[in-house]
Amino acid sequence: METATTFIEKLRTAIAADTFVKLTLSKSAAKDKSLRNIFVRQIELKGQPMLSFTLRYISRDEVKNHPIEEGMAMIGLWLGNDFLNGDLFTLSEDVSIQYNRKRKARLFVKPASHISKPTPTHDKEKKRMITAESANYLTALGIANQEGQILKSGQKKFRQINKYIEIIDSLLSQQELGDHPHIVDMGSGKGYLTFALYDHLRNNKKVDASMVGIELRPKLVEFCNELAQSTGFEKLHFLAQDIDEYKAEKIDMLIALHACDIATDIAIAKGIKAGAATIVVAPCCHKQIRKAMKCQTALQPVLKHGILEERQAELITDGIRALLLEAHGYKTKVFEFISTEHTPKNLMITATKAPPKPDALEQIAKIKADFGIEYHYLEKLLGD
Ligand SMILES: C[S@@+](CC[C@H](N)C(=O)[O-])C[C@H]1O[C@@H](n2cnc3c(N)ncnc32)[C@H](O)[C@@H]1O
Repeated sequence: METATTFIEKLRTAIAADTFVKLTLSKSAAKDKSLRNIFVRQIELKGQPMLSFTLRYISRDEVKNHPIEEGMAMIGLWLGNDFLNGDLFTLSEDVSIQYNRKRKARLFVKPASHISKPTPTHDKEKKRMITAESANYLTALGIANQEGQILKSGQKKFRQINKYIEIIDSLLSQQELGDHPHIVDMGSGKGYLTFALYDHLRNNKKVDASMVGIELRPKLVEFCNELAQSTGFEKLHFLAQDIDEYKAEKIDMLIALHACDIATDIAIAKGIKAGAATIVVAPCCHKQIRKAMKCQTALQPVLKHGILEERQAELITDGIRALLLEAHGYKTKVFEFISTEHTPKNLMITATKAPPKPDALEQIAKIKADFGIEYHYLEKLLGD
């Protein structure tokens, strides 16, 4: 099949399978020299799926919407004529088409870099999975007012909650939870995300899920248990406990969001040992590796700058976490789950069951040698 046809067919398949994320046309060869890029996404207009094209000119954007087939035909015409590169992002793969000067095309396929897709909707109002009208716990959590309207001060948190639910939803489309899943949220804090996930699974997805939040601070636990009771969330409980002491009998999904330093490692280890099908963590600070790091590579002079040393420590800490998960039978994704405008701690690692990758342990050994690290705390917990 001709390369451009293959590319368009991959776009067609992704749209049909509801895995299309976005498409970009770049390296402009258009007659109008001011046209630089075209960005394509899927929207819904009057209930109909459409492709929305943002034509980026040097000093302005122009937006045009077209029915799916018409839009795909336009992309086919632009490729290799007005634009020499096309990048298609889907939930299963990233596909690039690149034309050389002689207009000969090559196709490149890589693993997907996106874990969730934007909700197909028009710009006016993004469709939310959790809505203030139906989720009265949002009022008690200080996100909505008594009338069920999101407060100005609660907007960011509300967006974060919905983004998080979107990600979990996308994960669940790849890894089913089973009939009566038990979910453990380690370091649940005030329970914003715990309540929202319970609500979504039981009320939107109709899954008979039970959930427990583990939290060190007894006052927060008391507050959350009272709220769960008054909301009628019978299978949602909170325990005032150190996650290290939590005895897991059954964990189908392990969650740890913004748990400090090695608390994230403790949570991951508990999830792996309990055979959790899905693990979702958003790490917080990274002290253990930073203190242990004695760089043995050419990067050494660069790391005299505190901020760069901190970033390097984060990279190694979370990179090794992902590799350890892979060694222990998980497929991982590492990505930014919400823009840094909302929180600087926005890296997320998700893991779903897959065949183990034993060579990941060798790769970890090499990284540790390069950075003079004796051990990663998670390795110790796993006994590797
Ligand atoms: C930054 S908050 C995050 C709360 C919530 N997960 C979220 O993302 O909105 C981290 C929470 O983890 C709790 N925590 C930290 N270490 C813990 C541990 N070892 N055991 C239980 N809870 C812990 C803290 O008390 C705090 O409430």
